[in-house]
Amino acid sequence: MEINTAEFTLSAPRESMCPKDNRIEYAFIGRSNVGKSSLINMLCGKKKLAKTSAMPGKTLLINHFIINREWYLVDLPGYGYAKRSKTEKARLEQMISGYILQRKQLACVFVLVDVRHEPQQIDLEFINWLGASGIPFAIVFTKADKLSAGKVAGNVEAYKAKLTETWEELPPIFITSSETRVGKEELLGYIDSVNKS
Ligand code: GTP
Ligand code: MG
Repeated sequence: MEINTAEFTLSAPRESMCPKDNRIEYAFIGRSNVGKSSLINMLCGKKKLAKTSAMPGKTLLINHFIINREWYLVDLPGYGYAKRSKTEKARLEQMISGYILQRKQLACVFVLVDVRHEPQQIDLEFINWLGASGIPFAIVFTKADKLSAGKVAGNVEAYKAKLTETWEELPPIFITSSETRVGKEELLGYIDSVNKS
């Protein structure tokens, strides 16, 4: 699938203020700094569509981008950033979980995981919560350019083994790099198949 147009639509502090046109959408979630905004830019071939930063905690609202004037990609704030106040953490958690649980047109949540790290408790808990809530999701490993291909494959296998401890069936899994554009075709192909289903 080709992305021909990608435009910022709006930023919302809660689900009720998100676009009301019922178009299908795909959201990107994961720890702060994992590369959510960068991945959206990579998929769209636009460097400055979603705001990125080397410092965690850049994205603070629910950001909608309309693609090919037909469907949305949604950039969410990250979770798990330690240097936030308790109130701010609670506010963001409420924003994220409220959006995910209430958004009827949400076709798939892409959970981003940094491929360099071992399975982290906070991600596993989030994945288990999505599964238990019946939300369709896929796992997207990010920053594959930072490791050798062999190390990437090994870490992905370790992650699958960890998930298999809890889940009988594995979700769709993608390996990506926003630097080298690895995984772009696979992810867009998956979105296309969901769009058509
Ligand atoms: P928050 O909005 O703060 O939650 O972060 P985010 O998940 O949106 O991350 P963002 O896209 O802003 O990227 C964080 C940092 O990681 C930036 O410095 C990016 O350049 C870098 N980065 C993101 N993706 C990749 C990647 O695939 N490879 C490499 N090498 N760096 C990446
Ligand atoms: Mg971001």
